[in-house]
Amino acid sequence: MPIRRKLLILLVVAALSAFALAVPKQVTVARHGMVVSVHELASRAGVEVMKSGGNAVDAAVATGFALAVVHPVAGNIGGGGFMLIRMADGKTHFLDYREKAPAAATENMYLDAKGDVIPDLSLLGYKSAGVPGSVAGMVYAQRHFGKLPLAKVMAPAIKLAREGYALTREDAEDLRDEDLAKFAASKRIFQNGGKGFAEGDTFRQPELARTLERIAASPDDFYHGALARELAAAVQKAGGLITAEDLARYEVKEREPIGGTYRGYEVISSPPPSSGGTVMLEALNILEGYDLGKLGNRSAAAIHLTVEAYSRAFYDRAEFLGDPDFTKLPIPQLLDRAYAAKWRETIDPLHASKSDELRRPAFSGLDQSASLRLPSEYRPEPEHTTHYSVVDPEGNAVAVTTTLNDSFGSRATVEGLGFLLNDEMDDFASKQGVPNGYGLIQGPANAIGPGKRPLSAMTPTMVLKDGKLFLVMGSPGGPRIITTVANILMGVIDYKMPLGEAVDAPRFHHQWKPDEIVLERGFSPDTVKLLKSMGHRVDEREHYWSDGECIAVDAKGALYGASDGRNNGKAVGF
Ligand code: DON
Repeated sequence: MPIRRKLLILLVVAALSAFALAVPKQVTVARHGMVVSVHELASRAGVEVMKSGGNAVDAAVATGFALAVVHPVAGNIGGGGFMLIRMADGKTHFLDYREKAPAAATENMYLDAKGDVIPDLSLLGYKSAGVPGSVAGMVYAQRHFGKLPLAKVMAPAIKLAREGYALTREDAEDLRDEDLAKFAASKRIFQNGGKGFAEGDTFRQPELARTLERIAASPDDFYHGALARELAAAVQKAGGLITAEDLARYEVKEREPIGGTYRGYEVISSPPPSSGGTVMLEALNILEGYDLGKLGNRSAAAIHLTVEAYSRAFYDRAEFLGDPDFTKLPIPQLLDRAYAAKWRETIDPLHASKSDELRRPAFSGLDQSASLRLPSEYRPEPEHTTHYSVVDPEGNAVAVTTTLNDSFGSRATVEGLGFLLNDEMDDFASKQGVPNGYGLIQGPANAIGPGKRPLSAMTPTMVLKDGKLFLVMGSPGGPRIITTVANILMGVIDYKMPLGEAVDAPRFHHQWKPDEIVLERGFSPDTVKLLKSMGHRVDEREHYWSDGECIAVDAKGALYGASDGRNNGKAVGF
């Protein structure tokens, strides 16, 4: 078919497929500073610290520790995360405090004698935990880029843990997680010894308060002192692998953020061991060749092209990405615009590609012959991680995504210390060709190895317009983090939506495998029909996912805080 006719059909397809917005938005406007997070008390902790003279980093650390208290499903000191900092002078810093595999970890540690993955071993219990990085990361950020003493920054979190706070309906519902009951300390602390909690109950965490006080008084103790020894002893007694030496060896890494441009906007995002920035920018490079705005927001034609780009970028993720300290990663090639152009040539504007039939275009330095083993089964997706965004009155900005991996991580609480451990080991490929908890296929670059950091999808991101801070963004959602952040970014840039609308707009996702588009509620039946007629398999079962907690800054410096309408978060400004 001639290309002009193809394009004409594409425009007709676009015009036919209207979309509907899913949910109401909540946008807070402020002049000076803003914190947006999934929990109002955590946002308030950050603002309180800024009002008492702290900068955006102090506020981010205050919010992070507060989330460990008021949002135990994902906020944490037993997990890890990534912090993207942009100071008002334009300098950026990316802190990697991702968990590391313990020294005793081995490639086949989650396989049985027959070589099959043992269900849940990498997801539940002490053996699924990597060496936590959150305390090191937050302390490092505070020490290097904050202004106030750590104890002052941690004070709101300590108070919330010691005096307690009234549980919201969502908080109380979260705590009903049935796997938490499998671990004595978790059941005792988070489920009131089995009696459970209800909305309005005051939730006090004296053990966690004590641990936070010890960190505030002596931050290195968590990795080098009595806290480290107590943590390691508790984990080992319960069958986990983390030792005091693992903790002593833990280090925060400052990494060069991934940078790129999209339609003239500068994008700063997360480098490996996160796949987020690379996958998002590779997809955006492919998409820059199309006039998405003209095709129409959430039209079938635009969704089709977007998921074709997502699927190619996720395919490359699976093949190439892992811990950069252990494997040489071809990031420059993946982000080369000439490579994006070659991928674009493989996209048919009217027909869905088959994931199994994708062939990587020849490009220097990229291995074309896939070494990936492909899956025969998929597991359901677990939930939770959390993102928060901060801007202070001087214009310093921080974007943090932090995680225990899925809800309440391993569900295992460190006895005596009152905090939950992550199950981040499941972000490795337990076995080549077997999807992890998020259905992701991963290659040898993401095999388990002692001291390695598992590949992540967390994508704290900032966007600059004319060299000035414009967007501070991020979200939870496992692999959907990447497409959520990309969808929000394109919402603002391609479809000219105000940030709040872009955050709340219905989401769509494709991750190469499984070979399907996943849609949130809110797409018109016509759009779904058109996508199916192009040959896409469409999964409409899920209702909502992810949680964008973002800030936009206008040309005059006014701040617009957009907390996702799907959840109970809050943008607090002043
Ligand atoms: O680092 C990662 O990519 C995952 N551990 C994130 C998990 C997540 O976002 C779950 N949230 N819904």
